[in-house]
Amino acid sequence: MKMRLTDSIQMPVVGFGTYLINDDETQPAVLRAIRAGYRHVDTAEAYGNERGVGQAIAASMNALGLSRDEIFVTTKLWPGNPAWGQEAKTYGATLESLDASLARLGLDHVDLYLIHAPSGGEQRLEEWRALVELKRLGKARAVGVSNFRESHIEEIREAGLPLPDANQIELHPWSQKPDLVAYLERNGIAVIAYSSLLPLSTWRAVAGQESAKPAELKAEGASADSPFKAMARKYGCTEAQVLLRWGVQKGYAVLPKSTNAERLAQNLDLFSFEIDAEDMTAIAAMDRGDGLAWQSGDPSRVA
Ligand SMILES: NC(=O)c1ccc[n+]([C@@H]2O[C@H](COP(=O)([O-])OP(=O)(O)OC[C@H]3O[C@@H](n4cnc5c(N)ncnc54)[C@H](OP(=O)(O)O)[C@@H]3O)[C@@H](O)[C@H]2O)c1
Repeated sequence: MKMRLTDSIQMPVVGFGTYLINDDETQPAVLRAIRAGYRHVDTAEAYGNERGVGQAIAASMNALGLSRDEIFVTTKLWPGNPAWGQEAKTYGATLESLDASLARLGLDHVDLYLIHAPSGGEQRLEEWRALVELKRLGKARAVGVSNFRESHIEEIREAGLPLPDANQIELHPWSQKPDLVAYLERNGIAVIAYSSLLPLSTWRAVAGQESAKPAELKAEGASADSPFKAMARKYGCTEAQVLLRWGVQKGYAVLPKSTNAERLAQNLDLFSFEIDAEDMTAIAAMDRGDGLAWQSGDPSRVA
């Protein structure tokens, strides 16, 4: 199943997320995902695993006879964050960053290149100018942003630059961002959801994978009364499938990550049931606002 990214590019709706998979584990994990049927892989300079992703893509071409254009690959520019004591990347450093990512991936282009998060200050527009150039050069077929709010995208419009093709944002029943989503849809910007599975008790349950998710929400996800457990029983699927299906029904691409073979297969199997209107309305009432996935808080808050 694919969705529109640009007038000429279709993107598989379900992508394989790779955050928190270390570089050594990434090759087997991504290859397992591709064997299971994933044709869209999401990585980032900041994940430190582009090399493993590239090795898996090469292996899938050799072992499964896939061609490069059958696998949709996204990576992201780490923009540098002055709030964390880093320098924001310049125009030139942004061009170099994609070259370095492509070298690690062993590819001559990616399908989508994103600015991972808005950095504060004037370099933000320079980074975007560089992405527009990278698209013109064919090193990225499409370019976009991640964790950008409406004001960050309006800044791009006001500078007279082309708007992003996509915005990748945290979206799940507890963070629904209805105004931002409506704005993106009005402007033809594809919506890519991340951390769809955050309400699950199993979400990043391993030590060292902290986030801003508060303890009461962890308890709520684990509760036997969780509405997602009830919906899973009703539709004869898992809670994870309910959460991912919600994203798909809203018109978003989703990026489930799992290093478990059974889970990664179920996360792709989202098209044999539909959440009914009553449950979609019930989920719409569960929104609690800002994102919870980043340990440092919602990165879109930067001015
Ligand atoms: N642009 C950004 O700022 C940004 C931020 C966060 C994420 N992302 C992207 O979005 C992807 C997905 O987000 P995410 O990694 O935060 O989380 P996610 O995919 O929503 O959830 C992954 C967590 O849920 C568990 N899980 C996966 N499938 C499951 C299932 N069927 N049943 C029960 N538990 C399951 C995984 O554990 P196991 O691995 O043990 O199964 C893992 O702990 C990332 O990998 C990354 O590519 C982007």
